[in-house]
Amino acid sequence: MHIAVLNGPNLNLLGAREPEVYGTDSLDDIEKAVRAKADIEGVAVAWHQTNGEGEFVDVVQALRGEADGALVNAAAFTHTSLAIRDAFLAVRIPFVEVHLSNIFAREAERRHSRLADIAVGVVAGFGGLGYLLAFDALVAHLKSRER
Ligand code: DQA
Repeated sequence: MHIAVLNGPNLNLLGAREPEVYGTDSLDDIEKAVRAKADIEGVAVAWHQTNGEGEFVDVVQALRGEADGALVNAAAFTHTSLAIRDAFLAVRIPFVEVHLSNIFAREAERRHSRLADIAVGVVAGFGGLGYLLAFDALVAHLKSRER
């Protein structure tokens, strides 16, 4: 099984960036934890982070034929990007949306996601742990489809 993890703008600054909102784990820490879990489960992980919307779209388009599913924290693009939504609609890769913070308890403009209704599900508010919860959920979802 192959899974891609897609991280959007400013997530490269995790750990230093608003730790009271996003926690003190760096993106490297989260990547290591996801990879450790994936190794145990025999799942291959391709990890991406970009600050660019166009590059994010390119990464989504390249998932076709490469990944069985994806974990997606599109960061601020979550709330704004029709282009990223369209890319997921085009490739039809099942994905779980992840947010470190509980976006539904934040400012009004963060409470809406342009991806959530086309995601398998959403995990929000558990910090870096959310990536691991979302990983389990995605793998379970993909395995249930194999049966
Ligand atoms: C975020 C929430 C977004 O609103 C914000 O723009 C981010 C991070 C999260 O993981 O909590 O950059 O996606």
